[in-house]
Amino acid sequence: MTPRPIPHLAALPRLDIGEAGLGGVGRVLRLNNNENVEQPSDAVLEAVAQAQADANWYPDVTATALKQAIAETHPGVAPDRLVPAAGSGELIALLARAYSGPGDEVIIGRQGYLYFSIASMATGAKPVYVDAAKNEKKPGFDPQAALDAVTERTRIVFIDNPSNPLGVILTAQEIAEFRAALRGDILLVLDAAYSDYVTDPVYQAGEAMVDQGDNTVMLRTCSKIYGLAGLRVGWAYAPAAIVEMLARVQRPGTIASLSLAAAEAAIRDRETYGERRWCNQKTRDAFTHRLRGLTGVSVLDSHANFVFATLGPEAKINASDLFSKLRMRGVFIRPMAPYHAPESVRISIGTETDMRIAADAIESLLG
Ligand SMILES: Cc1ncc(COP(=O)(O)O)c(C=O)c1O
Repeated sequence: MTPRPIPHLAALPRLDIGEAGLGGVGRVLRLNNNENVEQPSDAVLEAVAQAQADANWYPDVTATALKQAIAETHPGVAPDRLVPAAGSGELIALLARAYSGPGDEVIIGRQGYLYFSIASMATGAKPVYVDAAKNEKKPGFDPQAALDAVTERTRIVFIDNPSNPLGVILTAQEIAEFRAALRGDILLVLDAAYSDYVTDPVYQAGEAMVDQGDNTVMLRTCSKIYGLAGLRVGWAYAPAAIVEMLARVQRPGTIASLSLAAAEAAIRDRETYGERRWCNQKTRDAFTHRLRGLTGVSVLDSHANFVFATLGPEAKINASDLFSKLRMRGVFIRPMAPYHAPESVRISIGTETDMRIAADAIESLLG
């Protein structure tokens, strides 16, 4: 006799996370999880060092200082409509749990962030995948296909904007039109994890959209541009009723005190933020240009801290071989088979030197 888990939970797929090291290979380039390769800034390290001395106390469960820092640096954002959490992943799970359940449907882009479907299935809901528009020029979430997929059982639509893994964006206008056509009782989650890297003015992360109605939530993270993936901090900006609902389902104090201190310092450090945004864009665009020069390789225009590259039939090796051969050289990238794109890979953007090493290795394998 063994304890029997709940069947729909026992059937869940596990979220695929890129590995961090490899026995026998010295330094590896970790370009497989869209992390920030830069160490936290001195201001952040100093804040963490100071917070250590108070580690005997529970963290501030109201996260007041962090909410204040977010509100001060994000114009128009009201602190009482913010819900910090242990990464935006926690918020995805909480929203799925609070707003969907057995028999419900949750709409997700076919090549959207994988955790949307796992979090939805964990509540007993059914993920309904929508394909990209047939028009190849517009990969990613197709708002019309999503509207066509809505049924009376639809409870949530998750959109990652920019998309992970594609790196493409929907414009503020496209999102606004989609929301206007969506039933008001369906929760629209705009996951803007990579929004800090977007420089195109047609894009908006979603704060204004949250303020304009009752059914839209925007998610942000400190794991990307703020470089705190290991400390697990994210936040939601949400209508008052959803803030209240999240307060009921979230266990108080999921963010450790050192993480709160680090997030507050990182968010206030606008100089480092600006530098990282600029460096990412410069390095990403140069890397994209270099990959596009290789026979058989096409690369989507990315608005994030990674690129999505596809190897066509003219390429000397396929995506799966490229992944494993780079891995043996200590260059970790992500194969895209789990995202229904077996001919593609996703490569995070590191330092200029990292990307030169990665591009040299890719070039030598592709000839
Ligand atoms: C689109 C998207 N949303 C959310 C997350 C989760 O981020 P966090 O570290 O805040 O849980 C990721 C992580 O890669 C992501 O790609």
